[in-house]
Amino acid sequence: MANSNLFDLTGKAALVTGAAVGIGRGCAVALARAGADVAVVDRDETTAARTADEIRALGGNAVCVRCDVTKQNEVQEMVARVVQAFGRLDVAVNNAGIGILGADEEFPLESWNKVIGVNLTGVFLCAQAEAQQMLRQTPVEGKIINLASMSATICNCNAAYNASKAGVVQMTRMLAAEWGQYNINVNCISPSYVLTPMHASTPTVVRQRIRELTPLGHVERPEDLYGPVIFLASDASNYVTGHDLVVDGGHTLNAWLTPLTRSVQPRVNPAEESVQLKHDLDILGLPYDSDGFNPDVHPEIAEAFRMAFGIED
Ligand SMILES: NC(=O)c1ccc[n+]([C@@H]2O[C@H](COP(=O)([O-])OP(=O)(O)OC[C@H]3O[C@@H](n4cnc5c(N)ncnc54)[C@H](O)[C@@H]3O)[C@@H](O)[C@H]2O)c1
Repeated sequence: MANSNLFDLTGKAALVTGAAVGIGRGCAVALARAGADVAVVDRDETTAARTADEIRALGGNAVCVRCDVTKQNEVQEMVARVVQAFGRLDVAVNNAGIGILGADEEFPLESWNKVIGVNLTGVFLCAQAEAQQMLRQTPVEGKIINLASMSATICNCNAAYNASKAGVVQMTRMLAAEWGQYNINVNCISPSYVLTPMHASTPTVVRQRIRELTPLGHVERPEDLYGPVIFLASDASNYVTGHDLVVDGGHTLNAWLTPLTRSVQPRVNPAEESVQLKHDLDILGLPYDSDGFNPDVHPEIAEAFRMAFGIED
């Protein structure tokens, strides 16, 4: 029987933006494990280089490319460098994103522009440059995967972040409709709260609340996105396009008014939830407590949760 591993990415050339740490790093590791050559793309070149080293140490083929996804010339150059390294581009994960907290009635225009610039314009600039490359190749085809969020469909952060992610979902659908004619699939992934450096300042009491409100009972980790990203990058998803793959442990399904009860333990325990977060803080050279918590990574997030949860210092 012919090789029927629909999830095999051997010989595929992939890039992941914002891949130095967090979800992007997780996607890069997952794609490399499935056999792809992976470009670790980030504006933080030092950390991205370490992540590329780690992937090579695991037996994968990786290069590191510095790029700020808000700059069109850097994005075009980044895709050219990936093609220089691997000869082509088959899979692109547009993951780089930021959040800036703040109440909307006084949210500064500068912050609005920053969030939209990275999360929405940056994803568009990358998708455009990636599709241009895929159109130059023989055969013409490719897989583009954008990182959206549950914030695209529920309300949990603020207008800039949530609108940027809703924009990513609808942009994904539009590009999928346009580029299906070129055999380019465009999909997005919407995680919930993922323990990455973005959430290093989310207090442990908040993580417990997330567990209580999530049917699968544990806080999301970058590892929980390995399978979904391999699926969307591989032949297994060849007839899937324009889809928003919500990966949230059931979190956004829950509108019950009381904490959920459980009769069996979650698959992942609290200590296992923060393994990747601690790894990322290590490579960033940042300290943390036994839960991987550091209030100084995002002091505004720590403060917002302190106020909302009545946490004393
Ligand atoms: N962590 C979560 O709870 C969560 C939930 C849903 C969606 N997301 C989305 O997933 C993506 C990754 O989030 P994360 O939690 O891993 O974030 P993170 O802050 O932990 O890591 C983001 C990475 O992106 C890089 N980056 C930021 N701006 C960039 C730019 N302009 N150009 C290139 N690289 C840039 C950073 O250097 C960093 O390496 C984002 O789009 C985020 O909005 C995160």
